[in-house]
Amino acid sequence: MIDRINRLVAEIDTLKAGSLDEAEQLRVKYLSKKGFVSVLFDDFKSVPAELKREVGQMLNDLKNKAHQKIDELKSGFDQGSIASSVNQDLTRPVHNIQTGSRHPLSIVRNQIIDIFARIGFTVADGPEIEDDWHNFSALNFTADHPARDMQDTFFIATNPDILLRTHTSSVQIRTMETTKPPIRMIFPGRVFRNEAISARAHCIFHQVEGLYIDKHVSFADLKQTLMYFAKEMFGENTQIRLRPSYFPFTEPSGEMDVSCLICGGVGCNICKYTGWVEILGCGMVDPNALENCGIDSQTYTGFAFGMGIERITMLKYQIRDLRLFYENDLRFLQQFSGAF
Ligand code: PHE
Repeated sequence: MIDRINRLVAEIDTLKAGSLDEAEQLRVKYLSKKGFVSVLFDDFKSVPAELKREVGQMLNDLKNKAHQKIDELKSGFDQGSIASSVNQDLTRPVHNIQTGSRHPLSIVRNQIIDIFARIGFTVADGPEIEDDWHNFSALNFTADHPARDMQDTFFIATNPDILLRTHTSSVQIRTMETTKPPIRMIFPGRVFRNEAISARAHCIFHQVEGLYIDKHVSFADLKQTLMYFAKEMFGENTQIRLRPSYFPFTEPSGEMDVSCLICGGVGCNICKYTGWVEILGCGMVDPNALENCGIDSQTYTGFAFGMGIERITMLKYQIRDLRLFYENDLRFLQQFSGAF
């Protein structure tokens, strides 16, 4: 028995394998149930009692040696076992855990909310599916008013009174109908217009509406509020420019431009080579709109504004194509991880 063990020990020392398969065949030959080493264990019963201790020890050594040798032969071919020895290196740098990130439009919407919260504006929202009254009529768009054509509306096929809101100004009406002044609120939300999709326009986009109604609110308050917003959003050196405009629900009305952040005012395709980018419409709330909601226009005045979140985000992050916001391309979205 001792001889047989010694012979096997010597034999195992010389084993060689040319492939993973060959190494596996050696394992079967020596270590499987009917393998040479296992057979010796079966014969252990017949070893005289006084030798059992010594022979048992030798057998165990033999078995360990066989395992070790064959594992060694296998590891020369087996990628998995190389990987597992690398994994046991606790000093290795770890893999980054991929966390999600906020969408750039959410980041900017939250910034807008923060900026206005600091001067006392609270947040509310309203429905995306609206009726004609809240989206148009109460906002002083008469039935045949050409301004209705300014906004290509998606109507519900079975009921022309129901539509997808074309602007967040509908939430001004809902708020004024139910809230007594003073009102100092902003309304962020999604809006819909039947427009061809391009680098500058989309049929779904986002606005933030602002509304401030109280006694003695003036155009100077509007201008100061918007200037504060532009500097908080785009930086202290930002210039603003107010141009006269027209909306049925504000009088007087204006549009506000900020100096183009992308080219610094020199001229580029985003600012159409003017150095200025329009970011919002605004004005003093028309007395008709106040009265439509039961607010006494002799006692109260107010201002409103509506800004496009996509436009502001494009300016802030120098994004030249609005379609990127809706394509869910991770290479685009991951650039905003870590921002809030
Ligand atoms: N609702 C207007 C638009 O979508 C913007 C606006 C809001 C203008 C509030 C004046 C006052 O173009």
